[in-house]
Amino acid sequence: MAGKIPFGPTFTEMCDPSQIDPAIRQRALKALKENELDPINLFNITWKDENNQVRKMVLPPEVTGVDANIVVLLGRGFPSGSHKVGPAYATLIEGCVDGVIKPGEHTILGPSTGNFGIGVAYICKLLGFRAVVIMPDNMSKERYERIRKYGGDLDLTPGTESDVILTLQRTYELKKDPRNFALAQFELLPNYRFHRHVTGNAAIEAVQGIGNGRIACFTSAPGSAGTLGAGDQIKKAFPECKVAALEPYECSTLYNGGRGQHRIEGIGDKMCTLIHNVLNTDFIVLIHDEDTVRGLKVFQDGTEVLMKNGVKEADALALRDNFGPSGICNILGAIKMAKYLRLGPGDNVVTVATDGFDRYPSVLEDLARRTLEIEDFVLERWFKDIFLKAHTHYILDTRRPEAKGRLFQQKEKDWLPFGYTREYLDAMKSPSFWEDEYAKIEYYDAKIKELR
Ligand SMILES: Cc1ncc(COP(=O)(O)O)c(C=O)c1O
Repeated sequence: MAGKIPFGPTFTEMCDPSQIDPAIRQRALKALKENELDPINLFNITWKDENNQVRKMVLPPEVTGVDANIVVLLGRGFPSGSHKVGPAYATLIEGCVDGVIKPGEHTILGPSTGNFGIGVAYICKLLGFRAVVIMPDNMSKERYERIRKYGGDLDLTPGTESDVILTLQRTYELKKDPRNFALAQFELLPNYRFHRHVTGNAAIEAVQGIGNGRIACFTSAPGSAGTLGAGDQIKKAFPECKVAALEPYECSTLYNGGRGQHRIEGIGDKMCTLIHNVLNTDFIVLIHDEDTVRGLKVFQDGTEVLMKNGVKEADALALRDNFGPSGICNILGAIKMAKYLRLGPGDNVVTVATDGFDRYPSVLEDLARRTLEIEDFVLERWFKDIFLKAHTHYILDTRRPEAKGRLFQQKEKDWLPFGYTREYLDAMKSPSFWEDEYAKIEYYDAKIKELR
């Protein structure tokens, strides 16, 4: 068991920062604006703003083309610019509590396609650990710059988003050195615990006073599938809620075993991750990668076009800077599910924007290079085709046992080679596995309070 552990929040405090000692919360909020490298920023790992309100946006129906309310939780307000800092912190602090991570002794490995790596580098910078981020060498250049800015070392493997398996293989090798500890986001359950508790409860709170105050559907495109864990908590509050996992059409591994390169950074990693509770995934929806990049262009630079189509100026401006391609993917999934489920004005669909535009200018520069013309009339066509006319093709119902069986098989194929036993994988077929893992929050919270 560990001695003293770094001074950081409990799961309960991340979920509800009003429970943090007010003096510490005030210091943290000040540091968020003035010095992002002050370790007190750990207490800003939360979806809540300074008024303890969930940072969110309700998309105007003029943008979505559906009657249901699409509520997007905004992740860019987290320290380091994305909610992935939450799983990074949760995994590190649980490791410290368990005594398997020791400050000064361990180098922290962060296998990632970017944002989790940024989160790992950031947390390690705050807490004085050396961080090595293992990621593909063809991601957006803004990601590498951030990791370097936070003092993280890079260990690059060939390829892009969908070559994440190579980062896992590299991590597997590096882990053989006992001085290295991997914050293995695809495998370790603190990622699930963070999102089930912190993101799940934020989603439940976010719809208060909107529509019927319930959640009819939650959509999220899995990278690690941590965020999808929020769906488990939402279903506890609203059992009717459907959870939809979104994948790139170009890399449809969960949908039909498809594998390919795609442009939606952060998701679609050619596997069923170990921490994905497929029991609660009701639908799998495919989204074209190019739609997410073009949709991002519409949100960033199509303000005039949106206004011409009935969107209020303030609403159109609010769409800028809050999303990356995966956020657009999640919104498109939400629109499609609202249509598919025939949801009405009282119904809410919740989704998540993992990060904001700050790490994607190069993605739009690349779009400009690849596209002959992006005049306003083109943006208008994209807006109508991608958002207003979003269709409901490629939605797979995975509620039946045969579909679950196929997903379990995919998980076995992906994880038996990494030394997980069939017995462990079989245990995940029972809801009690996930309940037991979630219940550990109480233990970790008590220990964090005692040891920090
Ligand atoms: C930009 C972006 N979107 C979505 C995701 C997927 O989130 P999760 O890993 O919780 O499934 C990630 C994960 O790193 C990401 O970086």
